[in-house]
Amino acid sequence: MHMTEGKGRKEMDLKGRDFLTLKDYTKEEITYLLDLAEELKDKKKKGIQVDDWRGKNVALIFEKTSTRTRCSFEVAAHDMGMGTTYLDPSGSQIGKKESIEDTARVLAGMFDGIEYRGYGQEIVEELAKYSKVPVWNGLTNEYHPTQMLADLLTIREHFGRVEGIKLVYMGDARYNMGNSLMIACAKMGMHFTACTSEKYFPDRELVEICEGYARESGGTVTLTEDVGAGTKDADVIYTDVWVSMGEPDEVWEERIRDLTPYKVTKKVMENAGEKAIFLHCLPAFHDLKTKIGKEIYEKYGISDMEVTDEVFESEQSKVFDEAENRMHTIKAVMAATV
Ligand code: CP
Ligand code: NVA
Repeated sequence: MHMTEGKGRKEMDLKGRDFLTLKDYTKEEITYLLDLAEELKDKKKKGIQVDDWRGKNVALIFEKTSTRTRCSFEVAAHDMGMGTTYLDPSGSQIGKKESIEDTARVLAGMFDGIEYRGYGQEIVEELAKYSKVPVWNGLTNEYHPTQMLADLLTIREHFGRVEGIKLVYMGDARYNMGNSLMIACAKMGMHFTACTSEKYFPDRELVEICEGYARESGGTVTLTEDVGAGTKDADVIYTDVWVSMGEPDEVWEERIRDLTPYKVTKKVMENAGEKAIFLHCLPAFHDLKTKIGKEIYEKYGISDMEVTDEVFESEQSKVFDEAENRMHTIKAVMAATV
């Protein structure tokens, strides 16, 4: 089955494009990727193979750990007929014995696309600069763009649209998830609220950029410390871990103190309303079934963190639909750009 057979989807040429942050993509391009993902998901469910990429290969570089992103790239690539090479945090020379610039030129000679998960955004930007094949950001400290497509698709599947949807992000809004959700919402004509302590508001410069996107799209950007007002009538309540990969253990105590008022609880979901859904990029600390969860419990006496187990396991929680959509949307990114 060839990809041009999709019905109702406007064709768009994104071949060769990098996917580093949604700042680089227009609303129309993002919508195209969502439409493509929806079509690929539908075909997969129906058992229709879409594997026109036989003979192509992608490199998957992970300088931080992953379950969803790695599996999504691998399953998507294999569905598409492509080969994959996984480079784990210790399994490559990158940055240690070989510069990003040299790595990019080496890999671009062998592969048809490169996924990179790591630390600073400047590293993935550098990789893209020197690579003649598309580079996809699988998460940096600043952005997590492939996660955004999965989140938007999940919202669209649930509400039938993304425009006009009110999404409230609670927790550390200065990091990859807060930044990326603000960009995605502002671009797509959604109403984004960062509901957290002022210390955790996104960077002022990025807020201003997103306010610009929102003026164009009909969306809004709101920053508030007030949980009652911030989460009132929200369609989507979103949170993420309070301490991200690569951050030192010493910050836990401060984060728990500062962000506990912004935990997603039943009260928050009730304030948002019955129709609201709960999303989380995962992994989540909602019980004591993890090593870190247990350590935190022993040290601070809390059995959940950013979200209660009650909300996580509730009907309103769509986190596993969201996780599945990582694969369909990553497949769309590769299908559009390779
Ligand atoms: N949401 C997400 O990126 O999950 P992983 O860290 O497991 O890839
Ligand atoms: N903010 C989290 C997101 C994980 C998908 C982290 O960077 O660890």
